[in-house]
Order: sequence, then structure tokens, then C-alpha cells
Amino acid sequence: MTHLELGFQEKSSDWHADIMLVPILEGEEKTCIHPELDKVCPWLTIAPAMRDLQAKEGALTLVHGHPDLPLPRVLFLGLGNRKDLETDTVRTLIGKAFDRCQDLGLTQAAIPLAPLAELPIERERLLEECLYAAALSMYESGFLKKKEPSSPKTCKRLVLCAEGPISDGDRNAAERGRNAARATLLARRLANTPANLLSPDLFARCIVEETKNTSLRCTVLDEGAIERERMGSFLAVAKGSANPPRFVILEHAPEGYAGEPPVVYIGKGICFDSGGISLKPAAKMHQMKSDMSGACAVFSAMLAIASEELPAHIVGILPLAENMPGGRATRPGDVVTALNGETIEITNTDAEGRLILADAISYAKNYFAPSLIIDIATLTGACAVALGDEVAGLFCREEALVKRILDASRIAGEPFWQLPLWKNYAKKLKSDIADICHTGPREGGAINAALFLAHFADDTPFAHLDIAGVDWREKAHPLCPRGATGFGTRTLLELARGGIK
Ligand code: BES
Ligand code: MN
Ligand code: ZN
Repeated sequence: MTHLELGFQEKSSDWHADIMLVPILEGEEKTCIHPELDKVCPWLTIAPAMRDLQAKEGALTLVHGHPDLPLPRVLFLGLGNRKDLETDTVRTLIGKAFDRCQDLGLTQAAIPLAPLAELPIERERLLEECLYAAALSMYESGFLKKKEPSSPKTCKRLVLCAEGPISDGDRNAAERGRNAARATLLARRLANTPANLLSPDLFARCIVEETKNTSLRCTVLDEGAIERERMGSFLAVAKGSANPPRFVILEHAPEGYAGEPPVVYIGKGICFDSGGISLKPAAKMHQMKSDMSGACAVFSAMLAIASEELPAHIVGILPLAENMPGGRATRPGDVVTALNGETIEITNTDAEGRLILADAISYAKNYFAPSLIIDIATLTGACAVALGDEVAGLFCREEALVKRILDASRIAGEPFWQLPLWKNYAKKLKSDIADICHTGPREGGAINAALFLAHFADDTPFAHLDIAGVDWREKAHPLCPRGATGFGTRTLLELARGGIK
């Protein structure tokens, strides 16, 4: 995948690009042409199009100078009122502006730093978000099409312009944004890949390939190894498919941190969820190719964590399987023995996510004695019904951890809302014949699933992120085309950046 290039121009006499992106606030239009901008684009003050300049939120105004100039165009980005300005507005508008650059077939865009300093949001945060948003526009939806895309991504470079040296703080902020976008784009691309092209084995091979030249330690367990580990709950899901499961462990253990109990991220990796014998209706079944969005988020975040050499011990665990009906598939009513030795009554084979996660949680506890486990999963339709397609569910009993996750998610622009791990509902998971039943009633479905996972986490600090609903977009958005969103990738990365323990 092509990645947005980042450049720096530190002398106004050297500034050059096809287009300059300049944010403006409502009521402050008069002062929007900074002295620096006036110096490099003196034509701006007399350009007739300036009379139509709009600063209301979301407005884009394109102003042309002579085509032979080093900066022949300025695109003003209307941010609305100063007092209402939110980071998300900037992010979305940069996304929209970059889409415009792609449509116009431009190759290099520039952002001058001076106007950013005028905005009521910290400059480094703004820079990070500008790069994040711009880099997200690089996603190519047509990667499986025979023909070249009809509108290829031409704008592959963004330069930051200043008069004088650009500080390390600014440069690092820009790199952070770019890195977060790279991770999210990878998660999107993987989650959008059809199941015939990304079976558990192919996914595992891809992970091995991508981690080869990184500091991550990658281990892949095949079906035999998974059986020897006695992951009966995970295997119950995988059994119905002709494509065998894989269990991938990624470890980020930088010097000086390898001895600490790690944080473990676990991602649901159902490469296709047909529902199994409890078959899903046909209508939206094709979307279940992205039922491994949690695993995609964990994998992509781990790559970014390693590339940033973040000072923490972090492990990623990805149980990968297909949930298919077949002669060997688990039947509703079957009882299986999970890795922790407990028996589980499986009443609905479409509630497969919690079954693979239960064993992944036990595995994490057995091998890593983690300080904290966070799972991310497209787990329940009930969560999507409750919260819709913009905000994800967060389940966690430790208030301090809830706060840290919400803080990271706010920076990431991936909103979560806390739902309760309501203790009284745990009795609804009682089974007559096994230690536990994996599903409860339809009512409170997202909570019941979370309680099942919390049962396996037991006394290890635990948070569960239900991203069903937000993992997929029906309608394109300036920062995300239709399809998989990569939601959660950046939150996991921001958590690690914040120094999670
Ligand atoms: N992968 C689905 C949940 C899902 C639904 C994700 C919609 C994204 C969009 C999950 O495996 C599932 O099928 N859950 C069942 C559980 C039920 C049988 C208890 C559900 O939510 O219907
Ligand atoms: Mn299912
Ligand atoms: Zn599923």
C-alpha cells in the first residue's frame, strides 16, 4: 500500500506545492492571510475568489493564482466558530480537503504551520491529526480490480511549511499521525479482504511476512499445536471449516521491559462468520468477512507499537478461525472443554466469538501472567443495536482503566461508551449440564457476552471492547470509505503510547 510521504520546507522562499491548505475561523476571515502566506502568495489579496471565502464549518474555498507559481492554489478550510472548534472538525476537514486534492489529480499538498498556531487546539495535536487525516485518504478500495482505479491517488506527499526550523516536537507529532493512519489503513485493508483470500492460514502467513523485519516476536500455532494446548472452546468453532485455524502470538518486549508482566491485547479473528450450524440469514452475511476486525486492529497496532519502539511489554494474541457449517461442525447443544478445564454448553453456534476469546484469555493467563487483558471483538449484534455504527461498547470494572481507555479513544477519534458488566446477569449463563452456557437471553445480549469473557479473565484486570457495528461503514465518510473502518486500531496504539502497564 502506498503511504503518504511527509516533507518539511523551512524557508518561505523555498515553499512549493500544488496546493496550500489553510484553516480559517468564522468571523476571523479578515486576518486569515498571514504575513508569511502573503509573502508567498501575494496574489491572494487581489484574487476575486476571495470575495466568496466561507469559514462556516465544512466549507472549502479554492483560490487560484497563476499556474506557474510555486504555490498556484490555496484551499481555505472553514472550521466554524473558534469557541466550538473540536479536533474532529479539523480531522474531518483535512480528510475532505485531501479527497479534493486526489480528485484534482494534484501530487503535493502543503500545510503552513503559522495558521495552525492561531487555532485554540494545541499545535502538536493538530499536526498529528492533519497527518492522520491526510494519510487516511490514501486508501485504495479497488485493490482487487483488474483495471487501474479510475481515480488513482495522485496526492502522495504532504509538506509542512514554516519560516525557520521545524521543531522535533512538531516532526514527531506529524510522524505519530502518519503512523497511526498507516496502522488503521492496514487494518481496513485486511478486514475488507474477502474470506477466500484471507483464510486463517493466509492471515497467519501475512502476519509472519509483515513482522519478519520488525522487533516483534511472532509465533504461529497450527491445528495440531492448538489441540495439544487443549483449546477445546476455540477448536469447537474451527471444526466446521475445511480451512484449519491458526493461533498467533505477537510479542513486543523491548530491552528493560521484557521482565515485566505484559499487557495482552486479544483480537477476535473470525475470518468468516456464517453462524455455523446456527446459520445466519443471507441478507448481510457477506459482511461477516470482516468478523476478524478485532484481530486486524490488534495486529496493526502491534506493528505500530514495535515500529515506535514504545517502552512497554505488550503481547498480541490472535485466535484465527472460520465459523462454518459442515459435517464436523459443532452442533447446538454440544458440550466442550475449554483450556481452563471448564465445560461449556454451546447452544447457538453463531455465538462463536466468545468461544475463541475464552481460550485466548486462558492462554494469555497461563503463559504471560498479564497485568491486564484487553480484548477487541465484533462480538454482538446487540451492541450494534444499542450503540449504532459510530460508538463502540466498553466493558470494564476498573474505573481507572476505563478512564485510560476513554482518554486514548478520545485522542484516537474512536468513541467508546461504557456499558455495565452487570453481575446479576451472570446467573443467566448457568447451564444444567455444563459449568457454564456461552449465551444468555437475547435481552442484554452484549452484556451477557461480556460477562462470559469476564468469567474467563477472572481476577486478571480486564476490559472488553465490542466493535460490532462500528467495524463497518455503510456510507462513505471523509476519513473512511464504505466498508471496514479499522476502528480500535488507533485506540490500542494510543493506549500503548500513553504508557500502559
Ligand atoms: N459476528 C457476530 C456479531 C456481529 C453482528 C458483528 C453484526 C458485526 C455486525 C457474532 O458472532 C454473532 O453472530 N453474535 C450473535 C450472538 C447471539 C447468537 C447470542 C448475535 O449478535 O446475534
Ligand atoms: Mn457469530
Ligand atoms: Zn462473529
